[in-house]
Amino acid sequence: MKLTPEGRKKLRSRTRLVHSGRDRETTQGFVNIPAFRGSTVLFPDVATLRSGRQRYLYGTHGTPTTEALRDAWSEISGAAGTVLVPSGLTAIIVALMSALSAGDHLLMTDSAYQPARIYANTLLGRMGVETTYYDPLIGEGIVALFRPNTKAVFTEAPGSQTLEMQDIPAIAAAARARGVCTIMDNTWATPLMFSPHRHGVDMAVEAGTKYLSGHSDLLLGLVSANEQWFERLHHTTDLLGIQPGPEDVFLALRGLRTMELRLREAEMQALDLAAWLKGRPEVRRVIHPAFPDDPGHAIWKRDFSGSSGLFSVVLNPVSEAAVAAMLDGLELFGMGYSWGGFESLVIPFDCTKYRTATRWAPGGPALRFSVGLEDIDDLKDDLDAGFARLRTVG
Ligand SMILES: Cc1ncc(COP(=O)(O)O)c(C=O)c1O
Repeated sequence: MKLTPEGRKKLRSRTRLVHSGRDRETTQGFVNIPAFRGSTVLFPDVATLRSGRQRYLYGTHGTPTTEALRDAWSEISGAAGTVLVPSGLTAIIVALMSALSAGDHLLMTDSAYQPARIYANTLLGRMGVETTYYDPLIGEGIVALFRPNTKAVFTEAPGSQTLEMQDIPAIAAAARARGVCTIMDNTWATPLMFSPHRHGVDMAVEAGTKYLSGHSDLLLGLVSANEQWFERLHHTTDLLGIQPGPEDVFLALRGLRTMELRLREAEMQALDLAAWLKGRPEVRRVIHPAFPDDPGHAIWKRDFSGSSGLFSVVLNPVSEAAVAAMLDGLELFGMGYSWGGFESLVIPFDCTKYRTATRWAPGGPALRFSVGLEDIDDLKDDLDAGFARLRTVG
């Protein structure tokens, strides 16, 4: 805890996760920073109030607890600064709001998290921003889609549910050459497995709800930005007056300390389960970028230092009733719209109805798995029994 700024720079990610955001002056020697609750901050005198230079001014601008997480995330992400918001979806929205104004044009990957699309198609549209969806595999071909008023490119790698791997450096370089902002949803890899700003991303979104929390007990969003974009991002968030609750930030700081261990374990578990599923006669295709036969593997290998616990599979054609029989009877896998927790989840998905730039035609029902920390053999037993039910209904 006596690290110099120079010494800090040399630390590896696991050490950073343990030591970042723990200012001794604030913790008073305790290991953890407490959950500061508060709206009002008192000023000692009129001169200090008028100067505007007091470290904390009002609850909407942040507290020592939020500052600790912001500093830690910036350090881990290699960012100039970070803002915290109450959910991952809010993080996507503040990033887009920071980059766009009425009359602007947005390029959004067809594989974006669906509520991001809904925001672009509704509120952003009403505010005069036009959105064009593009094929996630477009790479540097994105140049053909730029218009004079294009101001932001939204990316997500790998894509939501279907896990297409995007060539982020190529897209970011094309955007930068035209003064266009690149935003990336980096929730799948986290900054531990993909360093967004080093690959040219201007603003990186993380749903802290997933691996940062790791315990399915809070909602949180983070947006980190480079030097060029941080001030604008910070100003936008400040104007909106939004902050996450102090207990959620406290729990996220707790999650941060073990994030790499949980993520690496989820990675190993997911690779094991995906390989097992690949060998099942009921499975047509496993979609996981760490597998050499995955179409996104080369890019993943070039740019990412690992994979997380989230992947998808396509089953051989069976009835909806057969899929329901398989999933309804699972004893360990839960069914729910999130991921990144300690518990394993599975959901059926179908993006045929809302994708517009590409066609999703997998040739069978699709399932997304978030693999948790249970014993992998128990998880396989649960799915084995599920496949038996699926075959019975057919
Ligand atoms: C890729 C991705 N980004 C963002 C979000 C939104 O996060 P939150 O649930 O905190 O709004 C999700 C949630 O599932 C997600 O999967």
